[in-house]
Amino acid sequence: MVFISSLLLSTLCTFVVASPLSKRDSCTLSGSSLSSLSTVKKCSSIIIKDLSVPAGQTLDLTGLTSGTTVTFEGTTTFQYKEWAGPLISISGSKINVVGASGHVIDGQGAKWWDGLGDKGKVKPKFVKLVLTGKSEVTGLNIKNAPHQVFSINKCSDLTINGVTIDIKDGDSAGGHNTDGFDVGSSTNVVIQGCTVYNQDDCIAVNSGTTIKFLNNYCYNGHGISVGSVGGRSDNTVNGFWAENNHVLNSANGLRIKTVKGATGSVSNVNFISNKISGIKSYGIVIEGDYLNGKTTGTATGGVPIKNLVMKDITGSVNSAAKRVKILVKNASNWKWSGVSISGGSSYSGCSGIPTGSGATC
Ligand SMILES: *[C@@H]1O[C@H](CO)[C@@H](O)[C@H](O)[C@H]1NC(C)=O
Repeated sequence: MVFISSLLLSTLCTFVVASPLSKRDSCTLSGSSLSSLSTVKKCSSIIIKDLSVPAGQTLDLTGLTSGTTVTFEGTTTFQYKEWAGPLISISGSKINVVGASGHVIDGQGAKWWDGLGDKGKVKPKFVKLVLTGKSEVTGLNIKNAPHQVFSINKCSDLTINGVTIDIKDGDSAGGHNTDGFDVGSSTNVVIQGCTVYNQDDCIAVNSGTTIKFLNNYCYNGHGISVGSVGGRSDNTVNGFWAENNHVLNSANGLRIKTVKGATGSVSNVNFISNKISGIKSYGIVIEGDYLNGKTTGTATGGVPIKNLVMKDITGSVNSAAKRVKILVKNASNWKWSGVSISGGSSYSGCSGIPTGSGATC
């Protein structure tokens, strides 16, 4: 039980009901210090309002009580330091994270951007989520991440709705490796109705079960990606659905990459009714030859790709791009239909396509 014990606390919190704290207690964290965070964290409605997070500190919203709502209001910013982050960390069960109208969570990435992404200056990751039990993240406006945006690890029964990630400024100012959603070791995660404008994968699923990416827009990054799979502690992707997304002006449209020489598995992956346009390298790329961030040209079969549905994929690639590249060693039971991509040229070195799958390069 927590009782009002100091004047300081009463200025921070607006108690709807007298002590002890009940379900309706609302507490606000504002200003440029996290000193009251441990108290505010106990409230069932937490408002983060115009907060400036001190350098090298995490806005630590971990271990929240089940049923807590976190609302971001106004502008949230972060003071500069070279460190790995995360800038924000949220964990708990049945947690609601929402963005109030007009709010922005501004990473002010330009302070860190040097065009080198994972290398160069040490850049903080942005938002770490360990959310379970029907948690929801809704309507956040994220701007100018220094590095990767959402780390979704060990999450289950989580829905992310209508989040906007706007890192347009990074195009000319050296933003790099600004992945939108990195998913690992998670189950039953739905990401829908989001808009991502960045300089790396819109979503990258490295491992997980029943992950759905629905009705999203991906601009100017590297597209929708399963992988790279292999070489981590969890190397199984079982059940990924990417449906009704639009990938625009991106390096790739839809991609699966597995690591050369590694073991693991990719199964039950479904790309359905996605549109691609303005694609610069590959419309669809599935490769089993990935190593240290590069394609090597030699696929290995330790991470088999089974039960892959590619259905109703339409759109176009740029003139210098390839429509479809497939370079795999251990693929089976693929079903491709309605893949209709125009522009660019065909990739001549495809190999490993399962017979009777309907897949062509
Ligand atoms: C294909 O994957 C299976 C596991 O599903 C594995 O046993 C086999 O060795 C792999 N084949 C190759 C050529 O790597």
